Amino acid sequence: MTDRVLIVDFGSQVTQLIARRVRENGVYCEIHPFNKVTAQSVAAYDPKAIILSGGPASVTSAEAPRAPDAIFEAGVPLLGICYGQQAMCAQLGGSVEPSDHREFGRAFIDVTQDCALFEGVWPVGAREQVWMSHGDRVTELPAGFSPVAVTDGAPFAAIADPERGYYGVQFHPEVAHTPDGAKLLANFVHKVAGCGGDWTMAAFREQAVQRIKDQVGDGKVICGLSGGVDSSVAAVLLHEAIGDQLTCIFVDHGLLRADEAEEVVKLFDDHYHIPLVHRDATDMFVGALEGVDDPERKRKIIGGLFIDVFEQEAEKIGGAAFLAQGTLYPDVIESVSAIGGPSVTIKSHHNVGGLPERMNMELVEPLRELFKDEVRALGRELGMSEVLVGRHPFPGPGLAIRIPGAITPEKLDILREADAIYLDEIRNAGLYDAIWQAFAVLLPVRTVGVMGDNRTYEYVCALRAVTSTDGMTADSYAFDHAFLANTATRIINQVKGVNRVVYDVTSKPPGTIEWE
Ligand code: XMP
Repeated sequence: MTDRVLIVDFGSQVTQLIARRVRENGVYCEIHPFNKVTAQSVAAYDPKAIILSGGPASVTSAEAPRAPDAIFEAGVPLLGICYGQQAMCAQLGGSVEPSDHREFGRAFIDVTQDCALFEGVWPVGAREQVWMSHGDRVTELPAGFSPVAVTDGAPFAAIADPERGYYGVQFHPEVAHTPDGAKLLANFVHKVAGCGGDWTMAAFREQAVQRIKDQVGDGKVICGLSGGVDSSVAAVLLHEAIGDQLTCIFVDHGLLRADEAEEVVKLFDDHYHIPLVHRDATDMFVGALEGVDDPERKRKIIGGLFIDVFEQEAEKIGGAAFLAQGTLYPDVIESVSAIGGPSVTIKSHHNVGGLPERMNMELVEPLRELFKDEVRALGRELGMSEVLVGRHPFPGPGLAIRIPGAITPEKLDILREADAIYLDEIRNAGLYDAIWQAFAVLLPVRTVGVMGDNRTYEYVCALRAVTSTDGMTADSYAFDHAFLANTATRIINQVKGVNRVVYDVTSKPPGTIEWE
């Protein structure tokens, strides 16, 4: 079996980055919330090493989350990061105290001793940049540990007990602001824990195909296809595993971009030869959305109709016992909330969330262990085209949430045209892959313009482009002015109904990526 690392989550904002870094080393890992880790779960998971994440709590408070005893009894190497280091020290007999010298952001660390974490990366005497975010600090080490690096604010910025393979760092090696952090994590998983690096996409593909076969047997599977990366990769992987036992259902809600429906049908039918049902339900969706201007109501209507139509098509196919979905790992990680309560719903993204409950079918989710860019790597491994694999994310409710206010067929047509020109310009400039998501928005505002000798009174189109790593936070993309000016001219000249173009420079937060 592939070597596995267990990441115990104490609620840090960046726990997922630890998992990313470990997996980049070809080592499989999972994130488990600290309060769900038990002796049984550790034994069942059988990790070769355990990493304790950071977290927002203070070890010095009475309600502080404790590291489960099971991890100290597992007899495998441990790495505590920030809160994880403090929890480890406090529970193994050291002490942790609040400090007046809080460190947030960039800091410099002095390496005082050789240790396996630093091997080939940081020599003794080096002064290195790290990223800190802590108020408390370890003030007394448990027996067996010695300090291997210090900062002005933390005498035990990195500690080691090589005998047990226990290490602790006060800084965050998983973030990009600790430039050598990924190498330190590589040393931990390979040199300290002895993990191999055989968790590759080729290996994943083979295992996933086998697992799908084992789960499905000779049963029939249906899979909702949206034309996005996740459902497309899931469909191609499933088809490789079970061939024509798979039927894909593509519900066209009429809220797609220019030519999108035709492209999806052509690709899956003609190119991949995957049985595909294409249901054009444009009239139904656009009709139901008439006069609806509230974004959440739009999402509810679209989500509800989607389930109805999907169900009808599934019934026509008949006899399918399995429902396949392109669920990703970030959707299944049980996050530990810092405040203990549910987080506020900004937008109800899981617009088809009710589907599995309604359909009473067994779920097949072959991507549920993968992050987005791992899904892209799997798509490439499966020989899928870069155009499909590198596609920008597109929201389930489609263009309906890119037309603030009520949608009309006329507005949808205007937006499709403007959006296609914008993306064409981005592709021609070679910028598509540098951008996380780019799209046009049609505003419910008309302004006065002049074209030739005539007054115009038309809509405003807003352009949006953002960079992001996961869609949770985002920055507006800094196009040069000439690009924006050319694109605006082309849109205004070619799209009837638009006479003004603006560019959205809002980051997330405080904005969101979509306008609704
Ligand atoms: P926001 O607008 O919340 O978007 O910053 C973050 C990411 O989620 C996508 N998004 C959605 N995806 N259904 C979806 O399937 C939705 O209702 C929805 N709303 C936003 C958005 O495109 C971005 O990638």
